[in-house]
Amino acid sequence: MDLPTETTPLPMRVGPLANSYPASTFSASLPFQACCTPEEFMSRPRPLIDFPIEDHHYTGPLEAQVTFGESGALHHLEGCLLARFAATVGGHVLEIGADHGVSTRYIHQGLDRAQTGGQIVALDFQHKWGHDDHWPRRIRFEANSYTVWPHELQALLPEGEDFSWAFIDGDHSWEGASRDTLLALSLGIRRIFYHDTGEHCVPYKLSPAGHQSGSSVRQAILAGFRDAPGWNLYDIRTPCGMMYAEAK
Ligand SMILES: C[S@@+](CC[C@H](N)C(=O)[O-])C[C@H]1O[C@@H](n2cnc3c(N)ncnc32)[C@H](O)[C@@H]1O
Repeated sequence: MDLPTETTPLPMRVGPLANSYPASTFSASLPFQACCTPEEFMSRPRPLIDFPIEDHHYTGPLEAQVTFGESGALHHLEGCLLARFAATVGGHVLEIGADHGVSTRYIHQGLDRAQTGGQIVALDFQHKWGHDDHWPRRIRFEANSYTVWPHELQALLPEGEDFSWAFIDGDHSWEGASRDTLLALSLGIRRIFYHDTGEHCVPYKLSPAGHQSGSSVRQAILAGFRDAPGWNLYDIRTPCGMMYAEAK
């Protein structure tokens, strides 16, 4: 099942980013720009499928388990959002930045629920979770997203099938987030989630615009989609901050 793409105005909608986007958003004094709550996002415009979701910080083998806060793993609430999205939308998923695979396993459970046969291509140049036959939807791919070619990723999917959406949580620099976005776009992906987009997240040091604080990922995505026609951008108020870009 696909999400409807009609553009019912929602109070929290950011995109398409316009000149009216408040300058205060970029202020270092704003620790957290609230545009929609996770609950609002998950009910727009039709609710995402709700079902019991495990805490995947503690699933998988011991080597792949990690508590929230101990590493860069996402929060349970954020995992639930991805699992519910996967359950609703299904399809094949590109994940950039898998680490211990916490996010991978949330998406995996959602794809199980969707029953569309979706696979997750989990891309990381330093996986912390080895090969594991117990998670058959996961295609573990060890590579640098900077140097991988789109056709290498496409070749991992069944013949004639495409990626449905992406979750980007790899290199958190401005350049990294931008390059990973271009990689996803070059694969025809038109629904992209980003993690760690809160102003309080990853220090923002290497900005072409000279910002001194806030998340580099946030600034890169705001800049990248501001002038992109035909895209909506959602700013989701989760513990680490998530953004979701979707072609209209
Ligand atoms: C924050 S962790 C991902 C956490 C994971 N998404 C989760 O929530 O469980 C970031 C990961 O991105 C990987 N990474 C960073 N830059 C990368 C790149 N250019 N190509 C591939 N992987 C990269 C790192 O090795 C690390 O494992």
